[in-house]
Amino acid sequence: MSQLSRTFSIEDLRRQARRRLPRLVFDFIDGGAGDESTLRENSRAFENWVLIPRVGVDVSERDLSVNILGRPSTLPLILAPTGLAGFFWPNGEVHALRAASEAGIPFCLSTNSIASMEGVAAALPDSERWFQLYMLKDKGMLDSMLDRAHAAGYCVLCLTIDLPIQGRRERDLRNGFTLPLRPRVKSVWDVARRPQWLYGLARNPVSFGNFGGLGGGATSIAQHVATLFDPAATWDDFARVRERWKGQFVIKGVLHPDDARRAAALGAAAVIVSNHGGRQLDAVPAACAALPGVVNAIGGQAQIILDGGVRRGTDILKALALGASACMIGRPFLWGLASAGPAGVARTLKIFRDELDNGLALLGVRSLKDISGDYIRWKDTLGSEVEGGPRA
Ligand SMILES: Cc1cc2nc3c(=O)[nH]c(=O)nc-3n(C[C@H](O)[C@H](O)[C@H](O)COP(=O)(O)O)c2cc1C
Repeated sequence: MSQLSRTFSIEDLRRQARRRLPRLVFDFIDGGAGDESTLRENSRAFENWVLIPRVGVDVSERDLSVNILGRPSTLPLILAPTGLAGFFWPNGEVHALRAASEAGIPFCLSTNSIASMEGVAAALPDSERWFQLYMLKDKGMLDSMLDRAHAAGYCVLCLTIDLPIQGRRERDLRNGFTLPLRPRVKSVWDVARRPQWLYGLARNPVSFGNFGGLGGGATSIAQHVATLFDPAATWDDFARVRERWKGQFVIKGVLHPDDARRAAALGAAAVIVSNHGGRQLDAVPAACAALPGVVNAIGGQAQIILDGGVRRGTDILKALALGASACMIGRPFLWGLASAGPAGVARTLKIFRDELDNGLALLGVRSLKDISGDYIRWKDTLGSEVEGGPRA
C-alpha cells in the first residue's frame, strides 16, 4: 500500500506533509497569525452547528454538482489562491490546476505563485482558471498584471483585500523563513534530512514568477509584501481594478456585512467570506461564524463563497446549508501537494468528494442544490425546539 492510499482524511494528509517537508516550510503552510486563535477557530467553529438529517428519502442517485459564477462545477469546491505552491512540490501550481481541472472544479492562481501566470496557462490552456490579485503600490505593475491575466485566459479576477500589510506569523518569524531559504543553524539538519524535497527544489528554483524573479538576497514574505503591496488602497482603488478588469470579478477577504454589501455594490459576482485562513488579524471570527451575517446582508445580490477551516465534507454541507454556494480550500490541497505532488492533490479532492457524497446521502438529500437552512441548527438551540419547550 502506498503512503497515499493510507490517507483517509485531510488530517492524514497533513501528517504526511509534515513528514515530507522541512519543519520551517511545513510551518509556513500550517501556521497562522498571533496566538493562532482564529486559525484554530476556523475549523472548530463548524462544531457549533449540527446537521439535522431526514430519513426515508430515496438517495440512491446523488448529485454533488453546483453552479459557481454561472458555470457548472462537479463539486462545491475551489482551490484557493496560495502563494509559493511550487516551493512545496516542483511545478506545484500546474499540478494543482491539473488536478482541479480533472476533478471539474476551478483553481485560483496566487499573485505570489512560483510559476508565472503565463507559464501555468500555457501548461493547461483549456482549464478554468482564476487569477488572484493583491493591491500593488505600482499602478503600472497592477495594470500590467490585469492585462497579462486577461491575455493568458484567466476568466475570473479574485481581488484579495484583507492584506494591506502582512499579519504577524510568529512561526515564520521564529524560523527565519525567507526566500530563498536561509535556514538557521537549528534548522539545517532538519532541511538536510529531506533530500527528496531538496532535489525537487534544485529542479524548480524559487522565484516570484509573476514579478519576474525574487529580487536580490533572501526576503521574508512580510518584506516582499511591504515592498510591493499597497497599504493605502481603499474602495476607490478596488473600484478602479473592477473597471479595468474585463472578465468576472470576485472579492476575497470580507467578514463584516457592510463590507460584503460594498463588494456586491461594486459588481462582485461573488464575495468570499474569509479571514485568510487565520494568517492576517488574529482574534477575528471564524469564517463560518461570519457567514450568516454576510448571507443576510447580501440577500442574493452575489454568490457567497466560504473560505477557511474546511476539513470535512460535513463542513461543506454546513456552509451550503448556511447560504454559501461553494467553499475554497487552501491548506488541505497544499498538504496533498506537499505529500505526493499531483496524486496528493487528487487525493485531497477524492477525500472531500467521498465525504461529501456520504454526508449528502446520510443527510437524506439527493442533490446539493436542495440543501437549505432546514438541515442545520445552532447546536445550543436544539433543546428549545422540542414541542412544549425544553424539559426542566
Ligand atoms: C501557504 C498559504 C499561502 C497563501 N497565499 C495566499 C495568497 O497568495 N493569496 C490569497 O488571497 N490568499 C492566500 N492564502 C489564503 C488562502 O487563499 C485561503 O484564504 C486560506 O488558506 C483558507 O483557509 P484554509 O487553509 O483553512 O483552507 C494562503 C494560504 C496559505 C496556507
